[in-house]
Amino acid sequence: MRIYDIIAKKRDGQELNEQEIEYFVNGYVNGEIEDYQVSALLMAIYFNSMTKNEVSILTKYMANSGDTVNLSSIPGIKVDKHSTGGVGDKTTLIISPIVASCGINVAKMSGRGLGYTGGTIDKLESIPGFRTSLSRDEFIGAVNKIGISIVSQTGNLVPADKKLYALRDVTATVESIPLIASSIMSKKIAAGADKILLDVKTGSGAFIKDFERCRELAETMVNIGGSVGKETTALITNMDRPLGNMVGNFLEVIETVDVLKGGGPEDLKEICLCLASNMLYLSGKGDLSVCEEMAQESLGSGRAFKKFEEMVISQGGNVSWIYSPEDLLKNIKPYNVVSEKSGYIVNMDTEKCGIASMKLGAGREKKDDIIDNLAGIKFHKKTGDYVNKGENIATLYSSNRLKYMDSERSLLEALDIGDTKPEKQKLIKARVTKEECKLF
Ligand code: URA
Repeated sequence: MRIYDIIAKKRDGQELNEQEIEYFVNGYVNGEIEDYQVSALLMAIYFNSMTKNEVSILTKYMANSGDTVNLSSIPGIKVDKHSTGGVGDKTTLIISPIVASCGINVAKMSGRGLGYTGGTIDKLESIPGFRTSLSRDEFIGAVNKIGISIVSQTGNLVPADKKLYALRDVTATVESIPLIASSIMSKKIAAGADKILLDVKTGSGAFIKDFERCRELAETMVNIGGSVGKETTALITNMDRPLGNMVGNFLEVIETVDVLKGGGPEDLKEICLCLASNMLYLSGKGDLSVCEEMAQESLGSGRAFKKFEEMVISQGGNVSWIYSPEDLLKNIKPYNVVSEKSGYIVNMDTEKCGIASMKLGAGREKKDDIIDNLAGIKFHKKTGDYVNKGENIATLYSSNRLKYMDSERSLLEALDIGDTKPEKQKLIKARVTKEECKLF
């Protein structure tokens, strides 16, 4: 077999067979196939796409390209959850303890943030002492003892994705549905859960902004999950404004604690309850309405907060910071961003809001950038709210005060203020299962 012939076949719009896909994935990971040839193949896939069967095969070989996690020593059905990324998306921190407090074991591997989107691991590590690098035995042991552990991905999980993603990033081939779907699903499959819930974000702060493309991505991933015997459901949710009011690592922990104690902003609560009930549903806890009641009860009774507290203690975090999290911010002199005119916030460019937070030190522009755990934005007004000229729209936090001006400029640019109150948008836009795509 020659990689040249595989490139030519895809260039001519033909379907690759299993042996060809296996040859290309393994050859690339082993270093036998060169970057320039794989770049050409990726561009051919970008233009000619892949059939459902090709994407499933590609995902399977990527998933098996390195270590895989075996969760069989943890009893019960394990459900994983993945978000395609957004701004203020702290849902994993909230729904994992909800689900664990309802008796479902949560053994979760999460990622770090890159660019304007945040990552669960950075958020957890903003709790002083919290360890996200556990040995396999510590990880499994923690889940078997308290029902929950969230750790960072092991070094050799899906090396094929690490190499392919880095190459896609520099060859303008990231934006391809089969390549995104195989990248995400290979990591989910290698992480060992039995079932998968996907939160596909759509709107100005999402990785893929257009709803129809999100729907195609969601359907492709649901199909891949089914093809390897892992039932997968996707929710398509709104990222046209930051989720909740806090953006930034420790700020998001503060808001997590608020929600887990029964408070917090309505948009965040609504999405968390929907995600948690879908996870419980996939775990076989009953129909969706029963599962939603269960999730609500877990929040209302304080059981979800208790589970979060247990996880923080189990992973070495300084638990006093979750009892009075606002105290940590006392070390910082915040900066208020005020509105330059009166009117309704008609639109928030959520990607730009994320960039404003990154500029404060809350995110990484490059992979090795160091994060300022306390940096970020607290929004006092969001889309649909009325602001008066001179009124405080948001408060900025950074350990480096020199960063405030640049961030403020980006934030003000992100907001459209007009005379007409915009229509309220739905937060949950669709639910995709193997049977149907239900629009809300
Ligand atoms: N997230 C991933 O993990 N992979 C992609 O290709 C895009 C987003």
